[in-house]
Amino acid sequence: MKFSIFKNPLNTWQGNSLIIGLFEEDIFQQLEKNHLKIQTKLLTTKLLEKDFRGKKGQLIYLEILDSNINSLLIIGLGKRNKIEYDYISNSIADCARRISDKEEKSGIFLPWEEFENFSVQTVAEIVQLSIFRDNRFNHKRNEKVILKEVEFLVINEPKDISFEEIQDVCAGVEFARELVAAPPNILTPLEMSRQAKDIAKDHNLEVKILDKENCEDLSMGAYLAVAKGSDLEPKFIHLIYKSKDEIRKKIALVGKGLTFDSGGYNLKVGAGSQIDMMKYDMGGSAAVLGTAKAIGAIKPRGLEIHFIIASCENMINGSAFHPGDVITASNGKTIEINNTDAEGRLTLADALTYASNLNPDTIVDLATLTGACVIALGGDLAGLWSNNDLLANNLLKAASEVGEGMWRMPLQRSYKEGLKSHIADMKNTGPRGGGSITAALFLEEFFNEDINWAHIDIAGTCWADKNKGLNPSGATGFGVRTLVKWIKNI
Ligand code: BES
Ligand code: MN
Ligand code: ZN
Repeated sequence: MKFSIFKNPLNTWQGNSLIIGLFEEDIFQQLEKNHLKIQTKLLTTKLLEKDFRGKKGQLIYLEILDSNINSLLIIGLGKRNKIEYDYISNSIADCARRISDKEEKSGIFLPWEEFENFSVQTVAEIVQLSIFRDNRFNHKRNEKVILKEVEFLVINEPKDISFEEIQDVCAGVEFARELVAAPPNILTPLEMSRQAKDIAKDHNLEVKILDKENCEDLSMGAYLAVAKGSDLEPKFIHLIYKSKDEIRKKIALVGKGLTFDSGGYNLKVGAGSQIDMMKYDMGGSAAVLGTAKAIGAIKPRGLEIHFIIASCENMINGSAFHPGDVITASNGKTIEINNTDAEGRLTLADALTYASNLNPDTIVDLATLTGACVIALGGDLAGLWSNNDLLANNLLKAASEVGEGMWRMPLQRSYKEGLKSHIADMKNTGPRGGGSITAALFLEEFFNEDINWAHIDIAGTCWADKNKGLNPSGATGFGVRTLVKWIKNI
């Protein structure tokens, strides 16, 4: 998509489709003031005819045949003193989707100056991400989106505008979406490692892929126990970005990378178990790789960032791990497996230990870890756990800046009781109640406690059943935009 700024008098704009946002009440003054008098008479009549007053929820679609603009979409922005950014973002996304397979060139006019946290860049990101579609696996695979160019109509040109970085972030989100949506027979651990190598090659990152034997040498007994039941080899992925100047902060991002989760011998059975959706159990690692792609392109200064994924499948065969097994993670702690379906935390145990041994200042892990998190927070909010308030607040701030939903949850230490085992150092699951909290407490056993750590449970947010704002139905690429924003704010 080509984005640009149009700063000539607005009534001279030419293109196929114009999207305009107007606040409630004085809509004609707003049009006049901004020289948006397109076919004035016709427009006035139409607006009056349809009783358009700029109210929240009002949207008008007009075909203007006798002008150089084919169609006009007017969004009611609601009241000036009560701007709802989520709503505006959804409306722009809907409009963009509507024109994306019809018109080639679109213009967008919004009252930019009256917005507090909504810039031309924000809207570019919304447009780019909302019209994304994934036809890799169907007969429409050669169809292209018609919309090719968007011009932002402004009165005063905003300073420091860069569309390039928007494109880098969006490429990371789109890449994450494609990884998540790819079926488990295509996106295997091996394929994920190949994708990681490609990112490294494209952006000059260091890459290490550890195979099963390498992981055995590192005594990764928890991760390898999960991988045992699959015919596919596990692949442990480690990418490194290191900026050329002096390093201020060392960060590790860790992602859960189950390319398929059958549940193991605690098989996912029954309608609610969603076994058919468990290709998305690598949503955390997709966010990590998407971030690696964006960071590799943006190249922020003063940072060393490690991207770590213990990728495998949770399957069943004669060598699969049993409910009741006692295994030993790479930090020496023993775990009684009381549920083979709580496999994500086992793979993360060794991935976090590996990350911790790199001595980073901060570790952030992302995982489609628990159904309990979906029950608690639903599909619009990811759960955030952290041992450090500043880190938690910075992540929440980044999430809110990019419009990804995130809510902090407690590390209720008394619930550690629930992970006590008669035979081993701990069990891998606690009681049903507070299931996403005990999962977070389990993870806390596997890194040096001096490290600032945050855990983000994206079980509910990595997939959307229907269009939701800038997320078309399907994989959302959740986490990439928050992580990139957070990294840039460091
Ligand atoms: N991958 C699932 C979590 C999940 C469930 C993600 C539903 C998205 C939607 C995870 O491996 C899992 O199976 N967790 C169990 C844990 C339980 C056995 C303690 C769960 O949530 O049921
Ligand atoms: Mn599971
Ligand atoms: Zn899982």
